[in-house]
Amino acid sequence: MKIAVLAGDGIGPEVTREAVGVIERLAIPGLEMTDALVGGVAYKATGHPLPPETLEIARASDGILFGAVGDPDCDSLERHLRPEQAILGLRKALTLFANLRPAKVFAGLEGHSALRPEVAGAIDLVIVRELNGDVYFGEKGFRTAANGDREGYDVMSYSDSEVRRIAHVAFRTAMGRARRLCSVDKANVLETSQLWRDVVIEVAQEYPEVALEHMYVDNAAMQLVRAPGKFDVVLTGNLFGDILSDQASMCVGSIGLLASASLGERETAHGTFGLYEPIHGSAPDIAGKGLANPMATILSAAMLLRHSLGLAAEADRIEAAVAKTLADGILGGDLGGSAGTTEIGDAVLARL
Ligand code: NAI
Ligand code: MG
Repeated sequence: MKIAVLAGDGIGPEVTREAVGVIERLAIPGLEMTDALVGGVAYKATGHPLPPETLEIARASDGILFGAVGDPDCDSLERHLRPEQAILGLRKALTLFANLRPAKVFAGLEGHSALRPEVAGAIDLVIVRELNGDVYFGEKGFRTAANGDREGYDVMSYSDSEVRRIAHVAFRTAMGRARRLCSVDKANVLETSQLWRDVVIEVAQEYPEVALEHMYVDNAAMQLVRAPGKFDVVLTGNLFGDILSDQASMCVGSIGLLASASLGERETAHGTFGLYEPIHGSAPDIAGKGLANPMATILSAAMLLRHSLGLAAEADRIEAAVAKTLADGILGGDLGGSAGTTEIGDAVLARL
């Protein structure tokens, strides 16, 4: 069993170190972890944010543990050399098209949500976001209009096979949960959304036990705040999913608590190949200060063990240790506490 560890920039290495410590403590026989450079740190060392060696190590692994990329020193570089291109490049090169973001309030943290505690306490949902298509990967550029205006454009498109494969992931996820699926689109104005809706309805025939509903994205944004407890699995495209998943994370409490999995179709010996990362970025404002909350990355490591290595019991143990640490009131600055990165990591290890 091989894990590629891509820590990246800013707080990436700080939070990844704690997650690696947790995996090591489980002493899983036959498990190897290999570090590789990614992001701004890779650009500075090799001239490329996603060097070929890193892609090779990632490809040869069963799962990738990813920290974060993004470095203010690189802000003036051309877009293809920016650190952020590394994560887009990995998702595309490894066909990681299904992004799973669970959002659930930990016991005792209901009061930390941006929502009223009784509303927040009911949240237990997973957002399934498509990652390889949509407006992020369509034709883009600048052009001059007939009247001389400068125009920027980004083409939004989806093919039926792209929608079909993500819809299957969402229906299968719903089958393992409360069997309710809400597909979010903007079919009242977008043709991509009309196609999306047609394909989701077609795929739904294969999952008669799942209750399917459709919702426009603007309404979904409102319902996520008004009554988030009504959602079980939310299926949506790349752009809408980007926005809704950040919104859902703040309903839960802190960006420092939310993990994610990005899965493809390749099967490993024990599960599905994937990349696992906290949903936050490199947080340059707190980098190097030992203040970052490592929980999101530790929970991402748990998802890696569950989905890519078939180690569900070990994943459960990590999640239970995280829940116990939080319930014991060991909280980082992002949750109004004073515990630092290593202190939180050590507290999880102690409970493990
Ligand atoms: P960010 O998520 O890095 O930070 C937003 C705010 O949340 C900051 O105030 C930060 O201090 C705080 N924060 C984030 N993670 C935290 C943690 N674990 N514990 C405590 N506080 C935490 O987003 P921002 O500032 O918009 O972006 C910074 C850089 O990260 C940019 O270069 C951006 O492009 C990159 N980025 C990379 C991502 C990735 O690697 N997948 C995702 C999002 C942003
Ligand atoms: Mg985002």
